[in-house]
Amino acid sequence: MQPSNRVAIITGASRGLGAVIARVLARRGYDLVVGARNRDPLEEAAASFARWGSRVAAVDGDVADAAARARLVSAARELGGLDVLVNNASELGAIGPLIDFDVPRLGRMGAYPGWGPYGASKAALELLTRTLATELRGRGVSAAIVDPGNMRTRMHQEAFPLEDISDRPQPEVTEPFWNWLFDQTPAEISGERFAAQAEDARWLQRV
Ligand SMILES: NC(=O)c1ccc[n+]([C@@H]2O[C@H](COP(=O)([O-])OP(=O)(O)OC[C@H]3O[C@@H](n4cnc5c(N)ncnc54)[C@H](OP(=O)(O)O)[C@@H]3O)[C@@H](O)[C@H]2O)c1
Repeated sequence: MQPSNRVAIITGASRGLGAVIARVLARRGYDLVVGARNRDPLEEAAASFARWGSRVAAVDGDVADAAARARLVSAARELGGLDVLVNNASELGAIGPLIDFDVPRLGRMGAYPGWGPYGASKAALELLTRTLATELRGRGVSAAIVDPGNMRTRMHQEAFPLEDISDRPQPEVTEPFWNWLFDQTPAEISGERFAAQAEDARWLQRV
């Protein structure tokens, strides 16, 4: 594919779902800024994304750190600007009821029964994304929510430490969805929520 000269930031791109999305965007000709905390696996992943001819900048750091987020943005500026931000990085954090959780750490988490903090943080992220979609519409910026579904990744194994998770699909199962999503007109999907593994490609979820 010809380079599109478009630039994407993908957080949490050293493995799992983020690496799948980075590969989809590299194949579509995007230049990439990829982030994660651990430098060595991030650089290894970045080198693999460059094989499709993209320029790839690896920026290590914690997305909870404002300075690290600023480094991601400046790396995108150096590549020419920012067209797509994939807000993917997340950790499972402490598992347990929300009532037992240390509130100041909530900003770092993602909402599921028994995984109070994780679920509450994902619910907050969804509302933030919908709010941004509304507030930024007039400025030509779109924002959409994607639930990728259960996938066989490190995070999923951490969520089910004693379970054999080999029946869960690899994150590559979401590739058709991402290719479809990046073909859409951004303004037409802004504020929407999608399920990347929905059957029969009925990805849009009106909730
Ligand atoms: N797997 C599932 O079943 C599932 C289901 C629903 C939703 N999701 C969501 O899908 C997304 C990707 O999850 P995954 O399963 O692919 O997880 P994963 O395999 O554990 O990968 C997480 C990625 O994010 C990076 N990361 C984690 N915390 C970070 C931080 N604070 N700052 C910067 N980078 C960070 C990790 O690298 P470092 O550790 O080096 O930082 C890694 O590259 C997450 O938002 C998750 O909540 C996953």
